[in-house]
Amino acid sequence: MLPVRSDAGDVPGQAALAARLRQEWPRLDVVMSNAADVTHLPIGQWTEEAFDRLLATNLKGPFFLVKALLPLLSRQASVILVGSVSAFVGHENAAVYGAAKAGLLSLSRGLTYELKERGVRVNGLSPGPTVTDTFAALGPERQAALYDELRRTVPLHRIGTATELAKAAVYLASDESAYTAGTVLRVDGGIGELAY
Ligand SMILES: NC(=O)c1ccc[n+]([C@@H]2O[C@H](COP(=O)([O-])OP(=O)(O)OC[C@H]3O[C@@H](n4cnc5c(N)ncnc54)[C@H](OP(=O)(O)O)[C@@H]3O)[C@@H](O)[C@H]2O)c1
Repeated sequence: MLPVRSDAGDVPGQAALAARLRQEWPRLDVVMSNAADVTHLPIGQWTEEAFDRLLATNLKGPFFLVKALLPLLSRQASVILVGSVSAFVGHENAAVYGAAKAGLLSLSRGLTYELKERGVRVNGLSPGPTVTDTFAALGPERQAALYDELRRTVPLHRIGTATELAKAAVYLASDESAYTAGTVLRVDGGIGELAY
């Protein structure tokens, strides 16, 4: 394992990351873009700076990450872009986050087309509500209330686990998904597709 600190929203930083990786692993079989700015705000509270930062981290940065890593990608490499159910359905305070994630998931189609002669597959992985540290910032009471609401509204009546997302990522990373390209795998308890 090689931990490297890098700002996912910094375009020159993506080139620096690629240069560092080239020293250690000149051939990459799997790239997964998972970092995200998860800021949720009502429209009146958005500043241009916060908007630009979210778009840089969640859309522009991942695009330039793939660009920087292209020389390292093996034939048949798998690129996984982590989106969100918010790309498909409206949520409270999620307009900017959802728009960035919709753009990111769209890249899975456009980049697969562009990279098809190299055999590189680019797929989106779209989580629904999943237990991670992201909700801890709400504090215990608001987090518990949110979890209750999600258990009501997620069609499968529970919140997903990080392990469930990891299993889907392993599928997309491996040859088990060799014929899956330019699509989005939704692991969201049905909330992105079904009415409740
Ligand atoms: N959890 C859910 O319910 C859910 C639902 C839908 C989609 N997702 C998506 O799943 C992925 C993982 O989410 P999560 O729940 O694990 O989120 P999280 O707990 O909020 O973690 C986000 C991670 O992104 C990192 N990050 C943020 N900005 C960064 C930047 N500019 N450069 C580098 N790293 C940065 C954070 O690092 P620091 O901790 O150092 O800030 C943190 O490790 C994200 O893409 C998220 O949008 C999650």
